[in-house]
Amino acid sequence: MKRDLISISDLTQDEVETLFALAQRLKADRQKGWPHPILAGKTLAMIFEKPSLRTRVTFEAGMDQLGGYAIYLSPQDIGLGTRETVPDVAKNLSRWVDLIMARTFSHQVLTEFAQAATIPVINGLSDLLHPCQVLADCLTLIEHRGALEGLKIAFVGDGNNVVHSWLHAAVKLPFRFVLACPPGYEPDRAVLEQTRQADARVTVTHTVAEAVREADAVYTDVWTSMGQEEEGAVRRQAFADYQVNAEVMSLTKPDALVMHCLPAHRGEEITADVLDGPQSVVFDQSENRLHIQKAIMVWLLQG
Ligand code: CP
Ligand code: NVA
Repeated sequence: MKRDLISISDLTQDEVETLFALAQRLKADRQKGWPHPILAGKTLAMIFEKPSLRTRVTFEAGMDQLGGYAIYLSPQDIGLGTRETVPDVAKNLSRWVDLIMARTFSHQVLTEFAQAATIPVINGLSDLLHPCQVLADCLTLIEHRGALEGLKIAFVGDGNNVVHSWLHAAVKLPFRFVLACPPGYEPDRAVLEQTRQADARVTVTHTVAEAVREADAVYTDVWTSMGQEEEGAVRRQAFADYQVNAEVMSLTKPDALVMHCLPAHRGEEITADVLDGPQSVVFDQSENRLHIQKAIMVWLLQG
């Protein structure tokens, strides 16, 4: 049966660890300048309903480095669900290419697409989840801290798609995750319930100080995600006290890492001095998107 990577909850703990190890091997090969055309002759189709810098470039460059080929499909090109039904697009692409990455507005569209496709589908971000991001982030933490075991990761901001993937990761991996969000911006109930049933070490609070106290890493993301632009003004007010700044960082462990999936809005969710400061690992995170996604593509196509 074909495998997809729609959610971190699709993976076992062993599979997540396999992906980290494979990503580290592919990263080392690239750093040494060793060619690794493991996916020669394979083609990836990339569907984007929303803008992207990191996801597009890392998947496209990643496939090129693996010896394969990537095709970028903009919303104008294919009209997913408008020019043609979602299953028909999935069935067509399944006849021509080997692998599909899709960034959609609706998570349901993504799952409908993956069900109709007969080849592996990777979630490049939906309104519910962003699994490739969080796998890259966990790899970054392992590189900086040696292991995830015992780490306290504090997320300050919206209970959004990135948070949901963090919650799924907390079910599989041995860290503690504390979200500080404004009332009304908590994570999806069903996702939270999954973490409760699995006894994951997850806390949701409205108090930033509680979340970041003694944290090993402080993570934030934009207050207004793609597709929520009309809520921008309301959100700027609601999130005003949920900014990662020097005062917030004074409550963490002294060497806590600063993390952000990017793009960042300096002066909103994070101040420039913190984002661009010595504790920030945001560009390590973005680099690791390349390595983990290459690992995901190799794993999905070769097992
Ligand atoms: N972090 C991330 O997914 O960035 P893009 O939206 O630029 O792909
Ligand atoms: N939560 C953000 C992540 C961007 C990478 C969004 O969905 O816009």
